[in-house]
Amino acid sequence: MNITFEGEVVVVVGAAGGIGRAAAMAFAQAEAQVCWLDLSETVEAESKSSSPAAPTPLAYCVDAADFASLQKVAGHIQEQTGRIDHVVVSIGLASETLGYPFWNLAPEQWNRMLEVNLIGPVSVAHAFVPHMLTRKRGTMCFVSSIAGQIGSQTDPPYSAAKAGLINFMQCAAKDLAPYGIRANAISPGMVKTPLNRQVWEAWSRASADHTLTYVEWAEQKIEQVAPLGRWQTPDEMAAMMLFLASDKAVNITGQTLNIDGGQVMHA
Ligand SMILES: NC(=O)c1ccc[n+]([C@@H]2O[C@H](COP(=O)([O-])OP(=O)(O)OC[C@H]3O[C@@H](n4cnc5c(N)ncnc54)[C@H](O)[C@@H]3O)[C@@H](O)[C@H]2O)c1
Repeated sequence: MNITFEGEVVVVVGAAGGIGRAAAMAFAQAEAQVCWLDLSETVEAESKSSSPAAPTPLAYCVDAADFASLQKVAGHIQEQTGRIDHVVVSIGLASETLGYPFWNLAPEQWNRMLEVNLIGPVSVAHAFVPHMLTRKRGTMCFVSSIAGQIGSQTDPPYSAAKAGLINFMQCAAKDLAPYGIRANAISPGMVKTPLNRQVWEAWSRASADHTLTYVEWAEQKIEQVAPLGRWQTPDEMAAMMLFLASDKAVNITGQTLNIDGGQVMHA
């Protein structure tokens, strides 16, 4: 599939992470000008490793839960590039505590989880959409999770935030359709990234007598829950994001695409 974004500007929030970085690299390879945003200070260095064929990337260290800072970044990108075509939101935070049952977590542990996993992506939409409306075309892609579709006991606040994100994406898709802007979500299954490893770390802390390494734990879980029986990769997530941002997906909006080896199947 040959997709190019030559002359277009793509904002990737969470670009220093496993999936976000793959997305930023893939859009750059497809000749977009990519704006790399992340809470991590490594984001600027990461942006420099992207495709030399692409226009010079912009990089910003910003907390997606800080709306005022996001607004400044969005304004700066608009000033520098004159356009914002696509926004990808790939940020995530896991609780350091395992659920099973939910009262293993204290209610106050929900605050930062909702702030990053739900209010963060919503704030990104509030900050960037005003710059996209007049162009009458564009896309948003939110990275949710299959946890947002199944009431995952592993991390209840994460699961609830991801469910909320899917619902917000659907509202946004309806509101943005008259402006020619499409909004969709992808739901990864098991991708080997720091966030995925944090789930094993929380499980390890809760199961004192465990002997499984991270990869053993993950592969056992994948075998149990994913019919295709394999990990998903950041590049597979990026491929779907590029497709959704392209004109090949011109009639797709308000959808949640699961890239999960068949863990969660929709009618
Ligand atoms: N890895 C998986 O198995 C998996 C499964 C389902 C969903 N997801 C989702 O995929 C997305 C990407 O996660 P990942 O697996 O690449 O994890 P990751 O930890 O590699 O990347 C997450 C990135 O988000 C950034 N981030 C966190 N809080 C932020 C904030 N407040 N502001 C700005 N940036 C912030 C982090 O610095 C990091 O670079 C997340 O939405 C996550 O929930 C991942």
